[in-house]
Amino acid sequence: MIKQAIIPLAGLGTRLLPLTSVFPKELLPINGKPGIEYILDECIEAGIKEIVFIISKKKKMVKDYFYNDKFYTNIIKKKKDPRIISEYKKIIKYKKMIKFVYQNKPLGTGDAVLKTKKYIKDKFFLMLLPDDLIVNQNCSKSMIKVHNRNRASVMASMNVKKNTVTRWGVYKLNKKLNKRDYLISDVVEKPSVKKAPSNKAVIGRYILPVSIFAKLSKQKPGKGGEIHITDAIQSLIYQKEKFIAHNFSGKYLDCGTMNGYIKSALEIAKL
Ligand code: G1P
Repeated sequence: MIKQAIIPLAGLGTRLLPLTSVFPKELLPINGKPGIEYILDECIEAGIKEIVFIISKKKKMVKDYFYNDKFYTNIIKKKKDPRIISEYKKIIKYKKMIKFVYQNKPLGTGDAVLKTKKYIKDKFFLMLLPDDLIVNQNCSKSMIKVHNRNRASVMASMNVKKNTVTRWGVYKLNKKLNKRDYLISDVVEKPSVKKAPSNKAVIGRYILPVSIFAKLSKQKPGKGGEIHITDAIQSLIYQKEKFIAHNFSGKYLDCGTMNGYIKSALEIAKL
């Protein structure tokens, strides 16, 4: 069973400036709720029991959001407002599940994953990239089902326009397992349009094997000088580790760019 999840949160959020100049992007509200809470609720509903946040010193506010007990208890003592009480209960529930590790230099998603090594207890764990919201269907839950059926790593997949492949990790798919699941034979981080093996993109949900840590600890920086998780996955695939691309049925919302963030709020308001 997949019981642990990790969430990289150390990114600077430059695509959302000026909103992120003092405020962490994960705490920005989307229809009255911080973006990170959508991700946490997806985890909880998928049966995750423990979540590791990878933050940086600059993102300390993310930790403060979950550790503001004195503030809440003082207000509740004075006001006894049922709405505040229930919000505080929710925060306590989240807090009990979360551990924090630090990535103070922005060396890439692969480096962020490596920071969680000492906390991961099982053979596989879930990773969610908080810029990627998926609504209408719990993508993590479906991926865990695929993992349980196949005892393999699983990654979320979505068709994208061919001229946008340079923005994504891109799959080369092999055998079709069923309508939504394919074995992956290669994955390339942000390829040129010419070199892209397909128009099927990696979306930010991954069920990864613990063998990824050994790969990451030896991995050299790739595109843009960063250590990419995609590169470590590629080398595991080349070693015959089984990875499945799951074509999820929910709706993808990109909260990491200004345009996407604005659209996400509108979409979620319609739900
Ligand atoms: C990251 C991954 C990329 C993936 C994308 C999904 O890129 O490196 O492979 O397709 O997330 O959102 P980033 O958004 O950090 O540039």
